[in-house]
Amino acid sequence: MKALVLAGGTGTRLRPITHTAAKQLVPVANKPVLFYGIESIVEAGVTEIGVVVGDTEKEIRAALGDGSRFGARITYFRQHRPLGLAHAVRIARDWLGEDDFVMYLGDNFVIGGITGPAEEFRAAGTHARILVTRVPDPTRFGVAELAPDGRVVRLQEKPREPRSDLAVVGVYFFTSAVHRAIEAIEPSARGELEITDAIQWLVDSGHDVRAGVIHGYWKDTGDVTDMLEVNRRVLADVEAAVLGDVDGASVLVGPVRIEAGARIIRSTVVGPAIIGAGTVIRDSRIGPATSIAEDCVITGSDVEFSLILCDARIEDAGRIEGSLIGRSACVTGTPVEPRAHRLVLGDHSHIEIAS
Ligand code: DAU
Repeated sequence: MKALVLAGGTGTRLRPITHTAAKQLVPVANKPVLFYGIESIVEAGVTEIGVVVGDTEKEIRAALGDGSRFGARITYFRQHRPLGLAHAVRIARDWLGEDDFVMYLGDNFVIGGITGPAEEFRAAGTHARILVTRVPDPTRFGVAELAPDGRVVRLQEKPREPRSDLAVVGVYFFTSAVHRAIEAIEPSARGELEITDAIQWLVDSGHDVRAGVIHGYWKDTGDVTDMLEVNRRVLADVEAAVLGDVDGASVLVGPVRIEAGARIIRSTVVGPAIIGAGTVIRDSRIGPATSIAEDCVITGSDVEFSLILCDARIEDAGRIEGSLIGRSACVTGTPVEPRAHRLVLGDHSHIEIAS
């Protein structure tokens, strides 16, 4: 089996973190979402990996390299415009050959990996297998209708009136039958060659398509609460380690990982928490359920249940909780009167002020 990882797209849909960076590189517990996907593919025994890239090709290549750090071999495919998930498969058609493959959407996160589903697909001998999960708002996803025996009967892409609450997860297992389906379908109303249409074609033409229900799933919908929750769950498995410097006046409580080059000065860090390489924490209280990325400076502040991306600076900011702070962002308290909020916020920023 091969894997095809989709890491294309224009990078403009994710909010609020950034409109320019690759959304697949958003970190969870200080590791890009995409890395968890690649690791789970390798864990499932698949090491030949094709990666579809778009405008953010440079960033994705810099992060993944030739795949050797994951024990995999990566081949890149450039998609010049995000013309749909099925279009991405078409681009890699020759490389995929007649092999079975798992298609993995690079902005998806499946807690617990995909080894189980991969084994079910291998054992079942069906033409395709999709994964579904129950969600409160299916209108943002592909939605599946299943027969009682798990056969897929119908799929709809982001329906206004969903016929079930089973969202299609961004991990699909295919035999080469999918290539015939992709040749047969037309672009959708939004102008994309939809993988849901290709799967529906398989169903309609008598192929055996099954679905497995999973729990523990997240997709970067820009929902900060979800993202913080995934971060918290992943942090729960973090291995405690102190690779950086912790001075005698600081206290670490519970599972805390301090990366090399990080410095903790007169501070308390309550796990689960991770402090990235080169970050300095001074006169502060961090955690629990908090990831601070590399090269941040946090001084005189409390940061709890939050995700702080690299190079951010938080100084005399009081207590910050349930927050997502982007790269090179700066949050500082103001010592001067009158006490006023002075803000420089990017587009689509969201801020709640304790008044
Ligand atoms: O995440 C699950 C959902 O993914 C499914 O429920 C939907 O049925 C499926 O169509 C897809 O929906 P989205 O519209 O949310 O997909 P998105 O545009 O976010 O793209 C998913 C990943 O694939 C993302 O990492 C970007 C990449 N991509 C996307 C397109 C459209 C490509 O590499 N090339 C493309 O042409």
